[in-house]
Order: sequence, then C-alpha cells, then structure tokens
Amino acid sequence: MIASTRSASIRIIGFGMGPQHVTPEAADALRSCDYVVAAAKSADDPLLAVRRQVCEEYGVELVAVPDPERDRDPASTTATAGYDQAVREWHAARVAAYRDVLEQRGGTAGFLVWGDPSLYDSTIRIVEQLGFDFDVIPGISAPQLLAARHRIVLHEVGRPVHVTTARRLREDIATGQTNLVVMLGSAPDLEGLEDWQVWYGANLGAPGEQLLSGRLGELGEASLRVAREHARAIDGWVMDLYLLRGPR
Ligand SMILES: C[S@@+](CC[C@H](N)C(=O)[O-])C[C@H]1O[C@@H](n2cnc3c(N)ncnc32)[C@H](O)[C@@H]1O
Repeated sequence: MIASTRSASIRIIGFGMGPQHVTPEAADALRSCDYVVAAAKSADDPLLAVRRQVCEEYGVELVAVPDPERDRDPASTTATAGYDQAVREWHAARVAAYRDVLEQRGGTAGFLVWGDPSLYDSTIRIVEQLGFDFDVIPGISAPQLLAARHRIVLHEVGRPVHVTTARRLREDIATGQTNLVVMLGSAPDLEGLEDWQVWYGANLGAPGEQLLSGRLGELGEASLRVAREHARAIDGWVMDLYLLRGPR
C-alpha cells in the first residue's frame, strides 16, 4: 500500500516548565491543533509525561515519536566538531521521523517545547527542514524562572548577561565574560571561581525544585551536586542552571 502524503501546518508552542506556565496564547494554539507530536526518549520518559499532562488539560491527542539515538560516545563527541556532527545527524534522523507522521496525518500539528523555543532548543531548526508552514508561540524559559525564584535581575544596571552552556563556560570566562547564565550542565566544575556569586536552580517549577545562592567558596561545589541529586531523586529527572557573577 502506498502511504498518502497530506499537507500539514505546524504550531511550535513553548509551554514553560509545565501546565502552570501555559499562557492563554499557548492554550489557544494548543486547542487549535489536531494533535501534538512529541519525541519519546524511552517508554517511561518523564519529560514526555509532562507534555502528556499539558495535552490532556487541553484535550489534544499526543503522538509520541520514538526519539532516534544520539551519538554520545566521548571518543567522537568531545571535540566541538565531533559534537556538532553528532547533533546534526541526530536532527536529520528526527526530521525523517517527524516527516513520516506529518505526511500520514496532515492537519495542524503542535510541537510542545520545554521553556521557550528560542533558547537551546532545536525544534525551530528541525521544523524549518520539514518544509511545512509554521508559527511560534513563546513560553517561560528556565533563565526567566531562575531570576523570578531568586527575585533577581539577571544583570546589573545597564550591563550585559551572557547566556552559555556548561561546556563553553571556561572558554567564555577566558574571553572576559563575568556575568553568565549557564545552561545544559551536568555536575558543575567551578574550581577557581570561589569568589564568584552563584544563583542556582534545579528542576524549577517541578516538585523537586532546588534553589541555592551565595559565594561559591562558601556554598561549595558539593552542595550544588547534592541539590542536583536531590532534585533527581524527587522528580526522576534533573535539569539545572545557574547565574554566575564574578567579583567586581
Ligand atoms: C534543552 S535546554 C531547553 C531550554 C528551554 N528551551 C528554556 O527556554 O529554558 C535544557 C536546559 O535548560 C535548563 N532548564 C530547563 N528546564 C529547567 C528547569 N525546570 N529547571 C532548571 N533548569 C532548567 C537546563 O540548563 C537544561 O539543561
């Protein structure tokens, strides 16, 4: 049998860190979708469960698409070029998987994005490759929630904030950055930054939310690791980020 190819349109919807952050605009967009497509990393993917909860709240069907394996072998991904290549291949495999679903089903498909689609998320790049018409609805991002929880502004008056990844942190500090939001971390390696201030958050918006702040030398890197593991133990997953500010 030859599969039919239908036309589809896509709505990329930022939903913050859970149903409590779905804006009225995102809610309207969700209600306008015929179904939502979401990557399933495993049968019991806890982040898919959050997306499922959002879909249930707005009465939209969730179509789980098994996420292709990404090459995480340190031998091939430690260098930036190897890492970029691994991510490119993974995106190409995701594009193929989503294209199959959209061509089969047609209609309006929602893609639910954790936080905001503009920040460390590949959905827009992947959807561009699919070639269907799409729009983007913003959501509350992790840096916004971090700032709100700590009741801070992310930068000093009239000064910049540099948003980066844990992977690039050392490089960015070496180029003179002194006020950084650090995302996509694993356990933090902050040696030599004892005089820097940190505002840390893990699993923001989830039951296991953890917050810590202070001078790094006083807090100690170990307390950040403990907070991270505590968040994981409560929620079954962990994501964290922090604002780091150098001494003036
Ligand atoms: C793939 S990026 C997605 C970012 C997302 N698009 C946003 O707008 O925040 C995932 C990273 O965002 C941060 N993050 C996302 N959700 C978080 C949460 N609930 N608590 C703490 N950090 C979070 C972590 O640094 C994590 O490694």
